[in-house]
Amino acid sequence: MAERPDTDELLIEEVAVDDEDASLGILAVATINRPDKLNALNQQVYSAIKQTCAWVESEDRVRLLIFRGAEPNPPPEGKRAKPKSFVAGADISEFLGKGSDDIRKSFANNAWEAIWNLSKPSIAMIDGFALGGGLEVALSCDIRISSVDSRFATPEINLGLIPGGGGTQRLARLVGYGKAIEMVMSGEMVGAEEAVALGLVNHVCQSSELEETTMKLARNIASKSAHTLKVAKQVVRSSLERPLNEGVALEAEAFAELFDSEDKEIGVKAFLEREKAVWKNR
Ligand code: COA
Repeated sequence: MAERPDTDELLIEEVAVDDEDASLGILAVATINRPDKLNALNQQVYSAIKQTCAWVESEDRVRLLIFRGAEPNPPPEGKRAKPKSFVAGADISEFLGKGSDDIRKSFANNAWEAIWNLSKPSIAMIDGFALGGGLEVALSCDIRISSVDSRFATPEINLGLIPGGGGTQRLARLVGYGKAIEMVMSGEMVGAEEAVALGLVNHVCQSSELEETTMKLARNIASKSAHTLKVAKQVVRSSLERPLNEGVALEAEAFAELFDSEDKEIGVKAFLEREKAVWKNR
């Protein structure tokens, strides 16, 4: 069993999927907590994200993982408040003086792939800037829910760089080549309304409603059969990597195999008897 991370830079809250039924497990809410640096990702945060993913994967009680950014601290007297951020990117101060060998080492088995490779569902809850490596955290999640105040960009071009956490690939698959190449080459910000129109985020709502909207969808997903969710994620994911005919064949086989699962029998019976399904794989 992997340990739950214990660091101030990434705080984990466990929220019951259903307050009245502990057997439905928990949602893990991971808050990236460096508000004075707009939650920029430093080495401690990268390790904590990887450890969180290992813990989520190994802990049966955890049904779904949510990432969020910490809210800004109150400003010191006479200073302006820092802006709201999901994550404003990789910590740029860690780039200075580094060469390719350092980066190859630190980007191998990286945090973005750890999120992407989770077998369980993940949601990015975005309130504020989601830039560079922060946008890549969101892109590695299955679903993105954003406040109207949020802004999205791949500004690495302004540093003489390109995205390095899978951003070029996942962004192009999500929004299409045309918008992805524009974002990567210009570094310009996209607002939340445009992001939802592009398919970059799934839902946009007022900041005050963001938590409720996210939790509602998270609880809905987490109440399904854990086994069926894993199969669903694997099969939909394979559409990104395979030709259509292979993907359709893979789906047909996965669909057939689900007919041998206990949860299919439970789900079908519950529907016919007009009852709530009580999954074996909870
Ligand atoms: N890495 C390290 N520190 C960062 C950071 C990053 N990616 N993004 C913001 N910060 C720090 C700033 O250095 C500043 O620290 P300080 O108060 O100790 O000086 C603090 O966070 C607040 O940022 P600031 O730039 O003062 O806020 P702003 O409201 O003027 O601008 C942004 C907000 C998001 C437009 C601006 O911070 C920015 O462009 N950040 C970098 C985005 C980026 O290029 N990300 C990709 C990295 S690969």
